[in-house]
Amino acid sequence: MTAELKIVEVGPRDGLQNERSPVALEHKVALVNALSKAGFQEIETGSFVSPKWVPQMADSAEVFARIERRSGVSYSALTPNLRGFEAAVQAGVSQVSIFAAASQTFSQKNINCDIDTSIERFVPIAEQAASLNIPVRAYVSCVLGCPYEGSIPHSQVIETAKKLLDLGCFEVSLGDTIGVGTPFQTSALLHEVLQHFPNDKIAMHFHDTYGQALANTMVSYEAGIRCFDASVAGLGGCPYAKGASGNVATEDMLYMFNQSGIDTGIDLDLVIDAGQAICDAIGRPNQSRVAAAKRSGKMS
Ligand code: HMG
Ligand code: MG
Repeated sequence: MTAELKIVEVGPRDGLQNERSPVALEHKVALVNALSKAGFQEIETGSFVSPKWVPQMADSAEVFARIERRSGVSYSALTPNLRGFEAAVQAGVSQVSIFAAASQTFSQKNINCDIDTSIERFVPIAEQAASLNIPVRAYVSCVLGCPYEGSIPHSQVIETAKKLLDLGCFEVSLGDTIGVGTPFQTSALLHEVLQHFPNDKIAMHFHDTYGQALANTMVSYEAGIRCFDASVAGLGGCPYAKGASGNVATEDMLYMFNQSGIDTGIDLDLVIDAGQAICDAIGRPNQSRVAAAKRSGKMS
Protein backbone atom coordinates (compact mmCIF):
# COMPACT_ATOMS: atom_id res chain seq x y z
CA MET A 1 0.00 0.00 0.00
CA THR A 2 1.33 3.45 -0.84
CA ALA A 3 1.35 5.80 2.12
CA GLU A 4 -0.86 8.87 1.75
CA LEU A 5 1.77 11.14 3.20
CA LYS A 6 5.45 11.05 3.98
CA ILE A 7 7.00 11.62 7.36
CA VAL A 8 10.73 12.30 7.17
CA GLU A 9 12.42 11.21 10.39
CA VAL A 10 15.05 13.81 11.28
CA GLY A 11 15.83 12.65 14.84
CA PRO A 12 19.29 11.20 14.19
CA ARG A 13 20.36 14.59 12.76
CA ASP A 14 18.17 17.44 14.01
CA GLY A 15 17.38 15.51 17.17
CA LEU A 16 20.92 14.74 18.19
CA GLN A 17 22.96 17.61 16.70
CA ASN A 18 22.36 19.83 19.71
CA GLU A 19 23.22 17.29 22.42
CA ARG A 20 26.05 18.70 24.48
CA SER A 21 27.68 15.44 25.56
CA PRO A 22 28.90 13.17 22.80
CA VAL A 23 26.33 10.52 21.91
CA ALA A 24 28.06 7.17 21.46
CA LEU A 25 28.28 5.92 17.89
CA GLU A 26 26.51 2.68 18.84
CA HIS A 27 23.46 4.64 20.08
CA LYS A 28 23.28 6.64 16.86
CA VAL A 29 23.52 3.48 14.76
CA ALA A 30 20.94 1.67 16.90
CA LEU A 31 18.56 4.61 16.55
CA VAL A 32 18.77 4.68 12.75
CA ASN A 33 18.33 0.91 12.57
CA ALA A 34 15.31 0.99 14.88
CA LEU A 35 13.74 3.76 12.79
CA SER A 36 14.27 1.98 9.50
CA LYS A 37 12.62 -1.10 11.00
CA ALA A 38 9.61 1.06 11.92
CA GLY A 39 8.97 1.80 8.25
CA PHE A 40 10.26 5.30 7.47
CA GLN A 41 11.08 5.86 3.81
CA GLU A 42 13.48 8.69 4.59
CA ILE A 43 15.77 9.06 7.60
CA GLU A 44 18.05 12.07 8.03
CA THR A 45 21.00 10.17 9.37
CA GLY A 46 23.71 12.78 9.85
CA SER A 47 25.50 15.93 8.73
CA PHE A 48 28.71 16.57 6.83
CA VAL A 49 29.28 20.00 8.33
CA SER A 50 32.29 21.49 10.05
CA PRO A 51 32.97 19.58 13.31
CA LYS A 52 34.01 22.91 14.80
CA TRP A 53 30.50 24.20 14.24
CA VAL A 54 28.54 21.06 15.17
CA PRO A 55 30.80 18.61 17.02
CA GLN A 56 28.01 16.10 17.64
CA MET A 57 27.77 15.26 13.93
CA ALA A 58 31.53 14.70 13.48
CA ASP A 59 31.13 10.92 13.28
CA SER A 60 28.42 10.88 10.60
CA ALA A 61 30.63 8.95 8.16
CA GLU A 62 31.00 6.20 10.77
CA VAL A 63 27.26 6.16 11.35
CA PHE A 64 26.70 5.64 7.62
CA ALA A 65 29.35 2.92 7.58
CA ARG A 66 27.71 0.96 10.41
CA ILE A 67 23.97 1.18 9.83
CA GLU A 68 22.11 -1.77 8.33
CA ARG A 69 20.61 -0.44 5.13
CA ARG A 70 17.08 -1.51 4.36
CA SER A 71 16.00 -1.50 0.78
CA GLY A 72 13.57 1.28 -0.03
CA VAL A 73 14.89 3.55 2.73
CA SER A 74 16.61 6.80 1.81
CA TYR A 75 19.40 7.71 4.25
CA SER A 76 20.11 11.42 3.89
CA ALA A 77 22.56 13.96 5.29
CA LEU A 78 23.04 17.71 5.43
CA THR A 79 25.78 19.11 3.19
CA PRO A 80 26.59 22.83 3.51
CA ASN A 81 29.33 22.93 0.87
CA LEU A 82 31.09 20.86 -1.75
CA ARG A 83 33.48 19.43 0.81
CA GLY A 84 30.56 18.13 2.84
CA PHE A 85 28.90 16.80 -0.29
CA GLU A 86 32.00 14.85 -1.32
CA ALA A 87 32.32 13.36 2.15
CA ALA A 88 28.64 12.43 2.10
CA VAL A 89 28.99 10.68 -1.26
CA GLN A 90 32.05 8.85 0.04
CA ALA A 91 29.98 7.70 3.02
CA GLY A 92 27.30 6.31 0.70
CA VAL A 93 24.37 8.65 1.36
CA SER A 94 21.20 8.02 -0.62
CA GLN A 95 20.29 11.70 -0.71
CA VAL A 96 21.63 15.05 0.46
CA SER A 97 20.02 18.16 1.89
CA ILE A 98 21.25 21.68 1.34
CA PHE A 99 20.08 24.29 3.82
CA ALA A 100 19.44 27.99 3.42
CA ALA A 101 17.45 30.53 5.42
CA ALA A 102 14.82 33.18 4.85
CA SER A 103 16.67 35.41 7.32
CA GLN A 104 20.05 36.98 6.47
CA THR A 105 21.19 37.05 10.09
CA PHE A 106 20.31 33.42 10.71
CA SER A 107 22.12 32.44 7.50
CA GLN A 108 25.21 34.26 8.72
CA LYS A 109 25.07 32.69 12.18
CA ASN A 110 24.32 29.18 10.95
CA ILE A 111 26.51 28.82 7.88
CA ASN A 112 28.68 31.95 8.04
CA CYS A 113 27.51 33.56 4.82
CA ASP A 114 24.59 35.54 3.42
CA ILE A 115 21.70 33.89 1.60
CA ASP A 116 22.94 34.56 -1.94
CA THR A 117 26.41 33.25 -1.13
CA SER A 118 24.87 30.11 0.32
CA ILE A 119 22.92 29.55 -2.90
CA GLU A 120 26.14 30.01 -4.93
CA ARG A 121 27.81 27.37 -2.76
CA PHE A 122 24.94 24.99 -3.46
CA VAL A 123 25.29 25.27 -7.25
CA PRO A 124 28.22 22.84 -7.56
CA ILE A 125 26.53 20.47 -5.09
CA ALA A 126 23.40 20.43 -7.23
CA GLU A 127 25.46 19.90 -10.39
CA GLN A 128 27.50 17.04 -9.00
CA ALA A 129 24.46 15.47 -7.37
CA ALA A 130 22.65 15.55 -10.72
CA SER A 131 25.58 13.86 -12.45
CA LEU A 132 25.63 11.15 -9.76
CA ASN A 133 21.83 10.79 -9.67
CA ILE A 134 21.71 11.77 -6.01
CA PRO A 135 18.45 13.50 -5.10
CA VAL A 136 18.82 16.87 -3.38
CA ARG A 137 16.36 18.12 -0.81
CA ALA A 138 16.49 21.69 0.52
CA TYR A 139 15.59 23.54 3.69
CA VAL A 140 14.57 27.12 4.26
CA SER A 141 14.95 28.05 7.92
CA CYS A 142 13.15 30.75 9.92
CA VAL A 143 10.03 30.79 7.75
CA LEU A 144 7.78 31.80 10.65
CA GLY A 145 10.28 33.86 12.61
CA CYS A 146 13.97 34.37 13.25
CA PRO A 147 15.73 34.42 16.62
CA TYR A 148 17.66 37.52 15.49
CA GLU A 149 15.33 39.40 13.12
CA GLY A 150 11.87 38.53 14.45
CA SER A 151 9.15 38.18 11.86
CA ILE A 152 10.18 37.36 8.31
CA PRO A 153 8.25 38.53 5.22
CA HIS A 154 6.64 35.71 3.22
CA SER A 155 8.33 37.11 0.12
CA GLN A 156 11.75 36.18 1.56
CA VAL A 157 10.60 32.60 2.15
CA ILE A 158 9.22 32.33 -1.38
CA GLU A 159 12.31 33.91 -2.94
CA THR A 160 14.69 31.52 -1.17
CA ALA A 161 12.51 28.48 -1.88
CA LYS A 162 12.40 29.42 -5.56
CA LYS A 163 16.19 29.71 -5.80
CA LEU A 164 16.55 26.28 -4.23
CA LEU A 165 13.95 24.64 -6.47
CA ASP A 166 15.59 26.27 -9.49
CA LEU A 167 18.78 24.42 -8.54
CA GLY A 168 16.91 21.17 -9.12
CA CYS A 169 15.96 20.22 -5.56
CA PHE A 170 13.06 17.80 -5.59
CA GLU A 171 11.44 19.41 -2.53
CA VAL A 172 11.90 22.31 -0.15
CA SER A 173 11.22 21.83 3.54
CA LEU A 174 10.09 25.04 5.21
CA GLY A 175 11.41 25.22 8.75
CA ASP A 176 9.90 26.94 11.75
CA THR A 177 13.36 26.70 13.25
CA ILE A 178 12.50 28.24 16.60
CA GLY A 179 8.96 26.91 16.87
CA VAL A 180 7.23 30.27 17.23
CA GLY A 181 4.64 30.07 14.46
CA THR A 182 0.93 29.61 15.14
CA PRO A 183 -1.60 27.74 12.97
CA PHE A 184 -3.00 31.05 11.73
CA GLN A 185 0.46 32.21 10.65
CA THR A 186 1.19 28.83 9.07
CA SER A 187 -2.04 28.98 7.06
CA ALA A 188 -1.29 32.51 5.91
CA LEU A 189 2.24 31.53 4.85
CA LEU A 190 1.09 28.44 2.97
CA HIS A 191 -1.72 30.33 1.30
CA GLU A 192 0.96 32.45 -0.41
CA VAL A 193 3.60 29.76 -0.84
CA LEU A 194 1.18 27.41 -2.61
CA GLN A 195 0.34 30.11 -5.12
CA HIS A 196 3.97 29.85 -6.28
CA PHE A 197 4.76 26.14 -5.98
CA PRO A 198 2.81 22.89 -6.28
CA ASN A 199 2.06 21.19 -2.97
CA ASP A 200 4.31 18.21 -3.77
CA LYS A 201 7.36 20.51 -3.83
CA ILE A 202 6.82 21.71 -0.26
CA ALA A 203 7.39 19.92 3.04
CA MET A 204 6.97 21.41 6.51
CA HIS A 205 9.44 21.21 9.39
CA PHE A 206 8.05 22.35 12.72
CA HIS A 207 9.93 22.76 15.96
CA ASP A 208 7.71 22.68 19.01
CA THR A 209 9.14 25.36 21.29
CA TYR A 210 5.77 27.04 21.88
CA GLY A 211 3.68 23.85 21.61
CA GLN A 212 2.21 24.79 18.24
CA ALA A 213 3.84 22.17 16.04
CA LEU A 214 1.06 19.60 15.87
CA ALA A 215 -1.59 22.23 15.21
CA ASN A 216 0.68 23.71 12.55
CA THR A 217 1.01 20.26 11.01
CA MET A 218 -2.75 19.89 10.87
CA VAL A 219 -3.36 23.21 9.13
CA SER A 220 -0.55 22.43 6.69
CA TYR A 221 -2.20 19.10 5.90
CA GLU A 222 -5.48 20.91 5.32
CA ALA A 223 -3.66 23.32 2.99
CA GLY A 224 -2.48 20.34 0.92
CA ILE A 225 0.99 19.55 2.31
CA ARG A 226 1.78 15.83 2.28
CA CYS A 227 5.33 15.71 3.60
CA PHE A 228 6.34 16.50 7.18
CA ASP A 229 9.57 16.31 9.12
CA ALA A 230 9.48 15.02 12.68
CA SER A 231 11.91 13.89 15.34
CA VAL A 232 11.46 10.77 17.42
CA ALA A 233 10.77 11.56 21.09
CA GLY A 234 10.75 15.26 20.12
CA LEU A 235 14.52 15.31 20.43
CA GLY A 236 16.55 18.24 19.32
CA GLY A 237 17.05 21.87 18.54
CA CYS A 238 19.30 23.96 16.36
CA PRO A 239 22.69 24.96 17.84
CA TYR A 240 22.39 28.37 16.14
CA ALA A 241 18.87 29.10 17.40
CA LYS A 242 19.28 29.48 21.15
CA GLY A 243 16.35 28.17 23.20
CA ALA A 244 14.69 26.41 20.28
CA SER A 245 13.37 23.01 21.28
CA GLY A 246 13.11 19.82 19.28
CA ASN A 247 10.90 19.09 16.33
CA VAL A 248 7.36 17.89 16.76
CA ALA A 249 7.60 14.37 18.19
CA THR A 250 7.19 11.78 15.46
CA GLU A 251 5.04 9.61 17.72
CA ASP A 252 2.55 12.46 18.27
CA MET A 253 2.34 13.22 14.57
CA LEU A 254 1.86 9.54 13.74
CA TYR A 255 -0.89 9.17 16.31
CA MET A 256 -2.73 12.18 14.91
CA PHE A 257 -2.62 10.86 11.35
CA ASN A 258 -3.22 7.20 12.25
CA GLN A 259 -6.26 8.02 14.37
CA SER A 260 -7.63 10.04 11.46
CA GLY A 261 -7.32 7.06 9.12
CA ILE A 262 -4.48 8.64 7.13
CA ASP A 263 -1.94 6.02 6.21
CA THR A 264 1.71 6.78 6.96
CA GLY A 265 3.14 3.29 6.46
CA ILE A 266 4.95 3.58 9.81
CA ASP A 267 4.58 1.37 12.88
CA LEU A 268 3.86 3.66 15.85
CA ASP A 269 4.77 1.06 18.50
CA LEU A 270 8.20 0.54 16.96
CA VAL A 271 8.76 4.30 16.85
CA ILE A 272 7.82 4.57 20.53
CA ASP A 273 10.35 1.84 21.35
CA ALA A 274 13.04 3.59 19.27
CA GLY A 275 12.34 6.93 20.97
CA GLN A 276 12.43 5.51 24.47
CA ALA A 277 15.63 3.58 23.75
CA ILE A 278 17.53 6.69 22.61
CA CYS A 279 16.15 8.76 25.53
CA ASP A 280 17.30 6.08 27.98
CA ALA A 281 20.68 5.86 26.27
CA ILE A 282 21.40 9.61 26.45
CA GLY A 283 19.50 10.37 29.66
CA ARG A 284 16.99 12.74 28.10
CA PRO A 285 13.28 13.05 28.95
CA ASN A 286 11.01 11.75 26.23
CA GLN A 287 9.06 14.73 24.84
CA SER A 288 6.39 12.66 23.11
CA ARG A 289 2.99 12.88 24.81
CA VAL A 290 1.80 9.82 22.90
CA ALA A 291 4.81 7.79 24.04
CA ALA A 292 4.10 8.81 27.65
CA ALA A 293 0.41 7.92 27.37
CA LYS A 294 1.01 4.58 25.68
CA ARG A 295 3.79 3.64 28.05
CA SER A 296 1.74 4.49 31.15
CA GLY A 297 -1.11 2.44 29.70
CA LYS A 298 1.25 -0.51 29.28
CA MET A 299 2.51 -0.13 32.82
CA SER A 300 -0.89 0.22 34.54
P1 HMG B 1 33.32 28.55 7.82
O1 HMG B 1 34.04 28.66 9.14
O2 HMG B 1 32.88 29.81 7.17
O3 HMG B 1 34.07 27.70 6.71
O4 HMG B 1 32.07 27.61 8.06
P2 HMG B 1 35.53 27.41 6.39
O5 HMG B 1 35.55 26.96 5.00
O6 HMG B 1 36.41 28.57 6.82
O7 HMG B 1 35.87 26.14 7.32
C1 HMG B 1 36.05 26.21 8.72
C2 HMG B 1 36.66 24.90 9.18
O8 HMG B 1 35.75 23.84 8.97
C3 HMG B 1 37.89 24.53 8.38
O9 HMG B 1 38.72 23.76 9.24
C4 HMG B 1 37.36 23.67 7.29
O10 HMG B 1 38.30 22.78 6.78
C5 HMG B 1 36.26 22.91 8.00
P3 HMG B 1 40.12 24.34 9.78
O11 HMG B 1 40.90 24.71 8.57
O12 HMG B 1 39.73 25.56 10.59
O13 HMG B 1 40.65 23.22 10.60
N1 HMG B 1 35.15 22.53 7.12
C6 HMG B 1 34.59 21.32 7.12
N2 HMG B 1 34.85 20.21 7.83
C7 HMG B 1 34.09 19.13 7.56
N3 HMG B 1 33.06 19.14 6.70
C8 HMG B 1 32.76 20.24 5.99
C9 HMG B 1 33.55 21.39 6.19
N4 HMG B 1 33.50 22.62 5.66
C10 HMG B 1 34.49 23.31 6.24
N5 HMG B 1 31.74 20.23 5.15
C11 HMG B 1 30.39 26.06 7.29
C12 HMG B 1 31.12 27.37 7.03
C13 HMG B 1 29.19 26.03 6.39
C14 HMG B 1 31.32 24.91 7.01
C15 HMG B 1 29.96 26.05 8.78
O14 HMG B 1 29.28 27.24 9.07
C16 HMG B 1 29.09 24.88 9.13
O15 HMG B 1 29.52 23.74 9.09
N6 HMG B 1 27.80 25.16 9.50
C17 HMG B 1 26.84 24.11 9.78
C18 HMG B 1 25.91 24.56 10.84
C19 HMG B 1 24.87 23.50 11.10
O16 HMG B 1 25.08 22.33 10.82
N7 HMG B 1 23.74 23.91 11.70
C20 HMG B 1 22.68 23.01 12.04
C21 HMG B 1 21.96 22.46 10.88
S1 HMG B 1 20.77 23.57 10.17
C22 HMG B 1 19.34 23.31 11.08
O17 HMG B 1 19.38 22.66 12.10
C23 HMG B 1 18.05 23.85 10.55
C24 HMG B 1 17.16 22.76 9.91
O18 HMG B 1 16.87 21.75 10.87
C25 HMG B 1 15.86 23.38 9.41
C26 HMG B 1 15.14 24.24 10.45
O19 HMG B 1 14.88 23.79 11.56
O20 HMG B 1 14.88 25.40 10.09
C27 HMG B 1 17.86 22.11 8.72
MG1 MG C 1 15.32 21.87 12.36
